[in-house]
Amino acid sequence: MPTIAIVSQKGGSGKTTLAVHLATRAAAAKYESCVIDTDPQATAAAWGDWRGDFLPVVVTAPPARLGRTIESAKKNSVDFIVVDTPPHADAAAREAIKAADIVLIPTKPRAFDLHALEPIADLVSFAKKPAYVVLNAVPSGATVLTKEARATAKEMGLEVCPVELGDRAPFHRSSARGETASEIKPDSKAAKEVEALWKWLKKKLG
Ligand SMILES: Nc1ncnc2c1ncn2[C@@H]1O[C@H](COP(=O)(O)OP(=O)(O)O)[C@@H](O)[C@H]1O
Ligand SMILES: [Mg+2]
Repeated sequence: MPTIAIVSQKGGSGKTTLAVHLATRAAAAKYESCVIDTDPQATAAAWGDWRGDFLPVVVTAPPARLGRTIESAKKNSVDFIVVDTPPHADAAAREAIKAADIVLIPTKPRAFDLHALEPIADLVSFAKKPAYVVLNAVPSGATVLTKEARATAKEMGLEVCPVELGDRAPFHRSSARGETASEIKPDSKAAKEVEALWKWLKKKLG
């Protein structure tokens, strides 16, 4: 019954994109999957509205109610929970990390974005939770950039997911319609990357 927290201090790093793609993939694998959106901007919830009645379920919860919301989701036989969080929010990130079995930290492979990993690195190390940086919106052919980004994250004591998500149109095009990359373009690189990430995540969750 895994709970996955998606955190990062930076807005626009791909938290909501990652949250809805993983929760949808889990639903396709027949999990009772649910996104809990703790961001007051409620972007994941808006995605859920655009999506309509299709799974996953998306609910909102203020950070202070996250524990209770997870409890009641589990009582309602939800068995795969993805917690989306706002940027610049220590309290929300802390609550999500506390509740999580695994923490994913999406970031663009750029200096300012990587710099913003530091407070999250401290939070996850304090909480002793397994946490992985997920390089997102990676420009094509940016091997030096991603190598440097991996090294920077490691210097902060963070592990880095081997799967990277490229800067790909199906990610934002699908989200704007309440869908996912593999739903609008099953053969796309974006869809394949999500698949690889899902396989990696399943292995990590055991
Ligand atoms: N890998 C990607 N490729 C292309 N666009 C992306 C990618 N990841 C995110 N985006 C787009 O970037 C914007 C910010 O992403 P979002 O997931 O909302 O970030 P956050 O939740 O961290 O603020 C959105 O418009 C989203 O569709
Ligand atoms: Mg968001």
